[in-house]
Amino acid sequence: MINPSKVVKKLDPYVPGRSIEEIAANYDLEPKKIIKLGSNENPIGPSPMAVEALTKNLKLISQYPETNLDSLIKDIASYSGVSTSNVILGGDGADEILDVLGKAFIEPGNEFIVPIPSYMYYEYTLTIQDAIPVYAKWDVPSNTLDVNSVIQAINTKTKLIFLCTPNNPTGGLISKEDIKKVLESTDAVVVVDEAYYEFSGVNNVDLLDEYKNLFILRTFSKVLGLAGMRIGYGLSNPEIIEYMYRVKPVFSLTKLSEVAASATLKDHEYIKKSTEVSIESREFLYRSMSTFKNLKVYKSQANYMLVDIRQTGLTAKDLSEKLMQRGVIVRDCTSFKGLDEYWIRVSVGTLENDAKFIKILKGIIG
Ligand SMILES: Cc1ncc(COP(=O)(O)O)c(C=O)c1O
Repeated sequence: MINPSKVVKKLDPYVPGRSIEEIAANYDLEPKKIIKLGSNENPIGPSPMAVEALTKNLKLISQYPETNLDSLIKDIASYSGVSTSNVILGGDGADEILDVLGKAFIEPGNEFIVPIPSYMYYEYTLTIQDAIPVYAKWDVPSNTLDVNSVIQAINTKTKLIFLCTPNNPTGGLISKEDIKKVLESTDAVVVVDEAYYEFSGVNNVDLLDEYKNLFILRTFSKVLGLAGMRIGYGLSNPEIIEYMYRVKPVFSLTKLSEVAASATLKDHEYIKKSTEVSIESREFLYRSMSTFKNLKVYKSQANYMLVDIRQTGLTAKDLSEKLMQRGVIVRDCTSFKGLDEYWIRVSVGTLENDAKFIKILKGIIG
């Protein structure tokens, strides 16, 4: 008899956003016509400089990746305003960095704190490592962190604390004062997830010198437009970085991912445009959805926004199903702990697709 580990037996599968291919096949739609506002991706696609560099370097796929990533690490350090010894780079996105954090800091039975609702992958990846989630509270009505709930949850078994800012899926920011309060209340590693910081204009790199237990998580998947290349990085003090490198998969960052990442960081015009387009779309979608009397839209500092749809009389499952039938993908948030079945998350798109989405939404709930 096949007998997996105890952890695997009780594991709930991770629920990712729906893909264009899946929806096209399920609803018999043309992939090109599908509007995807479900996975917080970049509406303008990748940097043209990244595409050009990839095209030129395609033949590198026959070689093993570099293990010495000095040049890219230098570029990331300079983009982030830190030294190279403060940077760790991962090849399955920021998700790999989360896994490596667990490997470096968690012993079975240790605890981690996660305010809910927040990014669900923290819990998924750490419960695989036999760590125990302890839930703190993100106050949804005010869209702020209940910092006391985090501090009260800390005990001697706490090894990691997750603070996502802007928070996924709510879009609210955590104040620097609150981040400092948590850092000062514990020796555990405090992971400040800045996957979406570029859209908010706020970051916490200035705290790295003072707080040795701070780890900042970042990704190339959002404003930098490389979700499919799976590149994540983290910023912290050199001791934490060194422990993490001991357990990080050696060849996880492919050559092509390295090429794409380097080219994107050099494309300042793209990064500026990418930020501006997403913010413009966010404001358009916020204004447009706020005109629906049966929706409550939450102000966001990221490239998505949370919407309370209970006044429509539909569940998130029903509404997202109706939208998918008409070629639009949004995120049904039912699988997010801390939210009930009446929430969707809408990612930014191009203004053209945003307008089409609003028209289709009107046809269903207007
Ligand atoms: C808050 C947050 N952190 C981390 C990630 C992981 O990003 P990736 O693995 O694509 O780098 C995501 C992805 O959606 C996210 O929303």
